[in-house]
Amino acid sequence: MTQTNSKPAVVSQAELAKQQQYIRQLQQMLPKLYTSPKALVRTFGCQQNVADGQRLKGMLLQMGYTLTTDVDEADLIIYNTCAVREHAQDRVIGNIGALKHHKRRHPDCIIGVCGCMVQQPHITQRIQKSYPHVDLVFGTHVLHRLPELLYTTLAERRRVFEIPDMDGVIAEGVPVLHDGGVRGWLPVMYGCNNFCTYCVVPYVRGRERSRAPADIENDLRQMLEQGIKDITLLGQNVNSYNGGISFAQLLRRLNDIPGDFVLRFMTSHPKDCTDELLETMATCEKVERHLHLPVQSGNDRVLQAMNRHYDRRRYMELIQTARRLMPDIMLTSDIIVGFPGETYQEFLDTVDLVRRVRYHSLYTFIYSPRVGTPAAKMDDPVSREEKGRWFKELCDAQEQISAEICSQQVGKVFRALIESPGRQPGVSQCRTLCNQIIEIPAAPDLIGTFQNVQITAGENWILKGTII
Ligand code: 5AD
Ligand code: SF4
Repeated sequence: MTQTNSKPAVVSQAELAKQQQYIRQLQQMLPKLYTSPKALVRTFGCQQNVADGQRLKGMLLQMGYTLTTDVDEADLIIYNTCAVREHAQDRVIGNIGALKHHKRRHPDCIIGVCGCMVQQPHITQRIQKSYPHVDLVFGTHVLHRLPELLYTTLAERRRVFEIPDMDGVIAEGVPVLHDGGVRGWLPVMYGCNNFCTYCVVPYVRGRERSRAPADIENDLRQMLEQGIKDITLLGQNVNSYNGGISFAQLLRRLNDIPGDFVLRFMTSHPKDCTDELLETMATCEKVERHLHLPVQSGNDRVLQAMNRHYDRRRYMELIQTARRLMPDIMLTSDIIVGFPGETYQEFLDTVDLVRRVRYHSLYTFIYSPRVGTPAAKMDDPVSREEKGRWFKELCDAQEQISAEICSQQVGKVFRALIESPGRQPGVSQCRTLCNQIIEIPAAPDLIGTFQNVQITAGENWILKGTII
């Protein structure tokens, strides 16, 4: 099991006080620059990025901005970006390009770009040269320094680029805007040490570092006080958490905090999925019965080329143990189709594994080469069109399994948290401990309550139910 550093670099109190000082200076400066300063934060990518976006918004509110989703009225726009696949990155770059017109119409608007994408030097150089309307670029390790960086941009009227290449730090005490209703995101560890050969994350998010259990407990208590009842513990490799206690021990400690709430976690790596973790899940009543356990491939040669540190047999053992301990567990996974050098026969091993495991759902991706990763230098003879056909074959197989599992749910009763209004009036959406979403006829005043819900229909992915 990978050991995370149990004494990671923590941002000092003096540094955080300095940022508070910049916040106070911005509180004075902003009303002189704008009649009513408005900021827009747009987040791309994973839940870790969503959690970062909530910290950006927390700091901006303290500075005196109000938040908007309307680009036209924004005096500050921050794009919080993702780099995991080319497609995600192209989308962001297209969106940044489009802001050129906005800047022409609103020259005083500050445009900022942060997150994983800008932690890659070739992208930052491109922004520097070809996107002169971008004023502020800051990397994943200096998010907590937004007040200082924004102040410098505004006060000195110059472009600011701050992207230190480092292992990463932990910044406690940064204000957070929990804007996810009854759902909340709680980072417990950052970074990744695994260096899967296709993945850019270890290069852009730094080394693994775990937060202290007491800090996580405090955050959880505060979230509960704010009415958040469905909390997802986050980490790029969450189950390699090591803050002096194991991830399983952390889960148990959080489970023991009094209150009616649900604890989820993502993303787990199979190599760190211990029996202790599965037993803890099975015995902690607030911990979800859902395991997102990305397998990536069902073929041992490909798994080795991916540097995944487990083989197909070990993965299947984990699935069996999980199902033995929790017969109702929901299983989901990520799969990469068309890893460099993968043959059709090897791909069929993945389809076979998917049929054996019978996941509730899958996140499937066609391999996307990432600059600087070992896989990007490997021979990749299979065409994009061919990979597209394999991709469809896998999706078709999974669709059938998902539809079967969906229809088998009819008649079952689950305890579920009503979390948000549904797509039609009079309908609400709730989520079970197994992370299944059910639409029920219920008034919005029940949002935030736990109810027993019976599934009445399960077609085309959408489960429908009624409160009993
Ligand atoms: N190409 C395609 N998919 C990727 N993922 C990560 N890197 C790549 C890549 N280069 C997928 C993996 C991971 C998920 C978050 O994104 O399946 O689990
Ligand atoms: Fe994208 Fe990975 Fe960064 Fe999340 S951590 S935003 S998935 S690159």
